[in-house]
Amino acid sequence: MLTLAIETSCDETSCAVVKDGREVLSNIISSQIEIHRKFGGVVPEVASRKHIENINQIIGQALDEANVTFKDIDLVGVTQGPGLVGALLVGISTAKAIAFGLDLPIIGVNHIQGHVCANYIEHKNLEPPFTCLIVSGGHTYLVQANSYTDYELIGRTRDDAAGEAFDKVARALGLSYPGGPLIDKLAKVGNKEAIYFPRVFLEDSSYDFSFSGLKTAVLNYLNQANQKGEDIVVEDVAASFQQAVLDVLVEKAFRLAKEKGSDKIVIAGGVAANEGLRSLMESREKEEGIDILYPSKVLCTDNAAMIGSAAYFNYIEGKESDLYLNVIPNLDFK
Ligand code: KG4
Ligand code: ZN
Repeated sequence: MLTLAIETSCDETSCAVVKDGREVLSNIISSQIEIHRKFGGVVPEVASRKHIENINQIIGQALDEANVTFKDIDLVGVTQGPGLVGALLVGISTAKAIAFGLDLPIIGVNHIQGHVCANYIEHKNLEPPFTCLIVSGGHTYLVQANSYTDYELIGRTRDDAAGEAFDKVARALGLSYPGGPLIDKLAKVGNKEAIYFPRVFLEDSSYDFSFSGLKTAVLNYLNQANQKGEDIVVEDVAASFQQAVLDVLVEKAFRLAKEKGSDKIVIAGGVAANEGLRSLMESREKEEGIDILYPSKVLCTDNAAMIGSAAYFNYIEGKESDLYLNVIPNLDFK
């Protein structure tokens, strides 16, 4: 079964052709990062316009690279939300036009479920159940995946998402957007014990997260150092901040996996590209007897292949959408 998938929830225009939910025949990603970088973050209106300019060409490229035509496609998958309303509308209108024109079934995909499904592409034998830590620019969730489409939401951020905290701290350090990958790089050469930043675990039993206090602690540290005329070692701040985020993410992910009796933890979302997170998770793999899985970097950040995978698994479980499908910018994780 061939799925044509479209992802336009934020600043990547992406189209993919995915076979049977796991095999990527093409995954074209046109990033707008260079355009948004000069504004220090994504400008929604600019993002929508760029998606409109690019989408048809990206779809053509995805079909060409997969060596197929519209006639070979069996299913259309598209991100329904969460995301920027104008950006999502470009993808969903295009997907509906294709589904209507070719008389194909269409599936509206939850973007966050898409991030999880990137792991089905990467790990061909991966099957639910598993514990999943989803860390992206807009969301931080701990979930138990009971099946390909049934997810039990157990923890979430109460304020900033993990990626958002990376980006905001990076900005305060004078680094460009998106700051996550730059902090990751600097952290490798910095001293993670140079500065103590708080680890916020919340109530004993809670699987929720909170990163805004940590972000404020970093900002206060930088302001005080500036006022006192002290040198700021950017690498040390990056490493110390990153470690404070990772300690909490990793601790809670393992705690949930053990509580659920999971033998694997799957990591997903843009921050799953973080090498510090990957190695800290892996450092506990043996002693805990829990496998750690994550997608390759290109499948961690936004891409249409993961949406194609999620669309396929929803379709085979009978969760078809119709042409009344509309965007849901604040779609929850379910
Ligand atoms: O999943 P994603 O592409 O978009 C959303 O759905 O939000 O995630 C983007 C986020 C950004 O905050 C970016 O800074 C972060 O992922 N990110 C990273 C790394 N690569 C991307 N954060 C930390 N370390 C990285 N290597
Ligand atoms: Zn995303």
